[in-house]
Amino acid sequence: MADKKYTPMQFGHLKGLKGISDAVLEVHFKLYEGYVNRTNKLTETLAGLAAKGEAAGTNPAYAEMTRRLGFEYNGMVLHEYYFGNLKPGGSGGTAPANLKKAMEESFGSFETWLADFRAIATMPGIGWAVTFQDPRTGWLSNHWITLHETNNIAGYMPIIVLDAWEHAFVPDYKANERAKYVDAYFSNIDYDAAEARLKK
Ligand SMILES: [Fe+2]
Repeated sequence: MADKKYTPMQFGHLKGLKGISDAVLEVHFKLYEGYVNRTNKLTETLAGLAAKGEAAGTNPAYAEMTRRLGFEYNGMVLHEYYFGNLKPGGSGGTAPANLKKAMEESFGSFETWLADFRAIATMPGIGWAVTFQDPRTGWLSNHWITLHETNNIAGYMPIIVLDAWEHAFVPDYKANERAKYVDAYFSNIDYDAAEARLKK
């Protein structure tokens, strides 16, 4: 049986982003590592309960830890997509050909996709703005995820991921200045990395 233990990915190359300070990134990396560690801990603890024959929906400890898995797993994975679609200096103001074509097919234009994504990214509350691709049709759609786990679309591929929790931009910006952070995000976005996630 595999030892299902995740190792935190390293994103030190992101130092020097425009408008997102190294200090905010450092804290963010620590928060991300916390999700990885708790995913591992929960997995190990639940496996231990199962091995002892204590896996039961009527066991409150088993049931509540199982409910928490979606929060911790998605907290880990969404951060990897988020850090993975940033790079210092970004990749330019518009998407490369294949990604742009997918945006045009689903939204009419790159600009309409961008306006829609920005609107979602500045919605009140803590969560994530995500452009997903439907693996069956290839269509793109933009979604708001509350916390890390509510509104994820089963089986869809995250293509562009923005962390809209306040820890992603405070104290670089005030809590009511998320739009400024979203501007900074787009000056660092790596559209090539996003395009590489597309199913051809
Ligand atoms: Fe985060």
